Amino acid sequence: MKRVGSSVSFLVSIEGFDGVGKTTQAKLLHNNLTKRSIKSLIVREPGGTTLAEKIREELNQNPSLTSTTELLLFEVARSDLVENVMMPNLSDGIIVVTDRYIDSTLAYQGFGRGLNLSKVKQLNNISSLGLLPEITFLLDMNVEDALRRVSNRNEDPEEKQITKFEKETVEFHQRVRNGFLEIAKNNKERIIILDSTLGVEELSKIILEKVIEKIEN
Ligand code: TYD
Repeated sequence: MKRVGSSVSFLVSIEGFDGVGKTTQAKLLHNNLTKRSIKSLIVREPGGTTLAEKIREELNQNPSLTSTTELLLFEVARSDLVENVMMPNLSDGIIVVTDRYIDSTLAYQGFGRGLNLSKVKQLNNISSLGLLPEITFLLDMNVEDALRRVSNRNEDPEEKQITKFEKETVEFHQRVRNGFLEIAKNNKERIIILDSTLGVEELSKIILEKVIEKIEN
């Protein structure tokens, strides 16, 4: 948490497996903060810089990446985003809202792909420069229902979704979900689990209230 003059800035991450509605909630939080004249910036991982967007393309288009190469690409994309975008904005007193962060790497590449968890944590620590979110919202729901949402989703060609994870098996997503829940259990002071079937409005209200609470305390 940083104080710049009268404003306070910190990182907020929104996490969860594919189809739980993170992107909608990240955008709503950004809009709701703007309405209250609180400055915020919304970013997504992987992405947010020229290099990270190129890496996003590569992750999306290259079907033959090994799990380790995939892990390292996510970490490089993060490193570029943290140092060039997150850190400078936080220093300017702006709240940064990120659609996915370090917990996604541990859940997908660690629990999902089966890579060594402590190595993934070490790499997360390097790429994030130790920057932890002040608060993380983990949107959680039943895997089958979330995957049904994904297949019904109206794909916006401009968004260039990474679809390779969406094509993974239900078992893969179950491991990712359990991974996220395990990470939340071990980081209770930071991560709030929310039932993502609550409805868009209800969820965005809870998320906004928690963030305002952090700003005021
Ligand atoms: P994206 O199209 O942004 O989907 P979503 O809206 O679900 O976030 O794709 C991001 C995909 O990349 C998503 O399936 C999760 C995966 N991912 C990882 O496997 N590891 C990571 O470290 C990150 C940030 C994302």
